[in-house]
Amino acid sequence: MVILKQPDEIDKARASNRIVAEVLNVLREKVKPGVTTRELDKIAEGVTEKRRAKPAFKGYRGYPFSLCTSVNEEVVHGMPSNRILVEGDIIGLDFGIYHQGLYGDAAITLPVGKIGEQAANLMQVTEQSLYSAINQVCAGNRLGDISAAVQETVEAAGYSIVRDFVGHGVGKSLHEDPQIPNFGKKGRGIELKKGMILAIEPMVNAGQYKVKILSDGWTVITADGSLSAHFEHSVAITDNGPEILSKLN
Ligand code: MF3
Ligand code: CO
Repeated sequence: MVILKQPDEIDKARASNRIVAEVLNVLREKVKPGVTTRELDKIAEGVTEKRRAKPAFKGYRGYPFSLCTSVNEEVVHGMPSNRILVEGDIIGLDFGIYHQGLYGDAAITLPVGKIGEQAANLMQVTEQSLYSAINQVCAGNRLGDISAAVQETVEAAGYSIVRDFVGHGVGKSLHEDPQIPNFGKKGRGIELKKGMILAIEPMVNAGQYKVKILSDGWTVITADGSLSAHFEHSVAITDNGPEILSKLN
């Protein structure tokens, strides 16, 4: 069941997502060769504490960290560790906040130092696919319009879109209905309505779309070892149309 939000709830979700964006903006400056993914997790927790908010992922289904750090062929849910980032890596940072009863959720993929041409293109296409999806977010459109926009952008560039993980509604829970696949057909699925908050999150592989989960139970990697990128925004449908709540500065 899709839960529509009142304007005061969207205000709170905006505040939560603003903290998410602040954290990702801080991390953007910290990602460079030599830093460990665990240090990034600690930095995210420090900003969260300063804002008197709670990290949304820590403890969620037993996830032990606040941040997800997915490097290179890791698709999503990579776990912070003593891994040292090296020049040429790309890293997906996925972060969520719980504050005043509402969740915020967003992700970006960043270059570590100077990166290869394919990696840069993959990141650019993935972010572009997110924005082409966001362009479809308005009352009266359908869920399939979002899914198709992502898929078309990604496949036109010669990459593949992950099937096994999807975007989601977000609000009083981190994951609410509807599920938002990143592949599908225009005009299909539920109608989008004012009051929805949608976390749209394309995960794009340079090679094939198949993924596998490592024995740690969390880390998702590409089955063929190819690079993967991930971007996510939480988008509300308000009285004034769509609004990206997690917009970075
Ligand atoms: N953005 C991801 C999601 O919405 C992050 C979840 S990580 C988890 O599913 F640890 F919380 F599961
Ligand atoms: Co999400």
